[in-house]
Amino acid sequence: MQFGKNILIGVTGGIAAYKMPDVSHALKKAGFNVNVILTKNAQYLVTPLPFETLTGNKCIIDMFERELNYSPEHISLAKQSDVVLIAPATANIIGKLANGIADDMLTTTVMACTCPVIIAPAMNHNMYHNPINTENIEKLRRFGYIIIPPEKGPLANGDIGDGRLPAADVLISYVRRAAAKKDLAGKNILVTAGATQESIDPVRFITNHSTGKMGYALAEIAMLRGANVTLVTGKTSLETPMFVDVKEVVSAQDMFDAVTSLAPSMDIIVKAAAVADYTPAETATEKLKKSDDDMTLDLRRTKDILKYLGEHKPEGQLLCGFAMETENLLENSRRKLASKNLDMICANSLKTAGAGFGTDTNVITLITADSERELPLMSKADAADIIFDTLISLHQGGKDHVGT
Ligand code: CTP
Repeated sequence: MQFGKNILIGVTGGIAAYKMPDVSHALKKAGFNVNVILTKNAQYLVTPLPFETLTGNKCIIDMFERELNYSPEHISLAKQSDVVLIAPATANIIGKLANGIADDMLTTTVMACTCPVIIAPAMNHNMYHNPINTENIEKLRRFGYIIIPPEKGPLANGDIGDGRLPAADVLISYVRRAAAKKDLAGKNILVTAGATQESIDPVRFITNHSTGKMGYALAEIAMLRGANVTLVTGKTSLETPMFVDVKEVVSAQDMFDAVTSLAPSMDIIVKAAAVADYTPAETATEKLKKSDDDMTLDLRRTKDILKYLGEHKPEGQLLCGFAMETENLLENSRRKLASKNLDMICANSLKTAGAGFGTDTNVITLITADSERELPLMSKADAADIIFDTLISLHQGGKDHVGT
């Protein structure tokens, strides 16, 4: 995934400032080069040392106004930043930025920035809802600033209300999204993930080993790259990805209904879900009681969703399937590519180490009508990135899209 690497964090004087060394550290671990500016008031709550230790960069503080006035540092920081995150953002910094007041290191730097600026307001409930503050926030939003809404919960003074700084992973998701390249902007993308469950009775069901990791990685990568993403997912234990429209389904029929109603408006569909091919002919309404005899379950074929989508594919839509095989990987996958009228199929073998169910990695071969590319072992996120790179080049009619 191509990210802008330079993140500038502005920490202002809200009590949640104490959480920001953790956020800086997490961003550094995620591969970003992190610079931090502390406002004068933030320095009553946190010191530069943890930031310097955790980011490896000098923490910039407002010390002497003379130094600030004659220092070009704010311009060079503004120029090198790919994303700015101001967290926690007090009513004071929001008011200053909304009204063009640049009287310290942070405000002068932000005013000189042309990159995305994310603001995470965190303050007392009444301050947050003060109409002057809400108008300032709206004004910033209108000018393209990205606002992270504060969370509701216990506040520093014991009140319960709006104004809590969201958890580190929420802040980091916003930063990652703002920093990512946006080559899927405006595209509607549908991803399916996870296993379906076919009920036998109120207690039991038939399912498979899919954990949904590949589909969730695809949905997240498409979202980061700017697409409008809908994720139709079977039940999983994964966290719902942010900024993705998630529709939970249970059975193959539920998935069929959800996917086919959404499909006509989609530019790209990637079907990573492991859909049951058979479902019990009848679902018992009461728990089935055992007897001393063996038992046979009558199974009926489910609808092949991908095949249906291939038969009803609108002009210009790209359809990508997955094939999980234990033998004859390429041969079976090529057959599915043709029989389901797909533009691409991602073939993976359950027998390859590091591939398949439950792992964070995968080993896949991308197959189109006229090409084949075997990818080495890599994270599911990296594989998702290459899948979308390839689909984009197919969209552009690229000839040697997946290499040979
Ligand atoms: N698929 C689907 N609907 C089904 C079964 C499968 O949409 N009822 C999709 C899967 O989401 C996947 C692709 O078809 O993208 C291939 O699934 P797979 O289980 O590998 O193959 P099947 O087509 O079911 O064929 P087989 O079971 O014979 O291998």
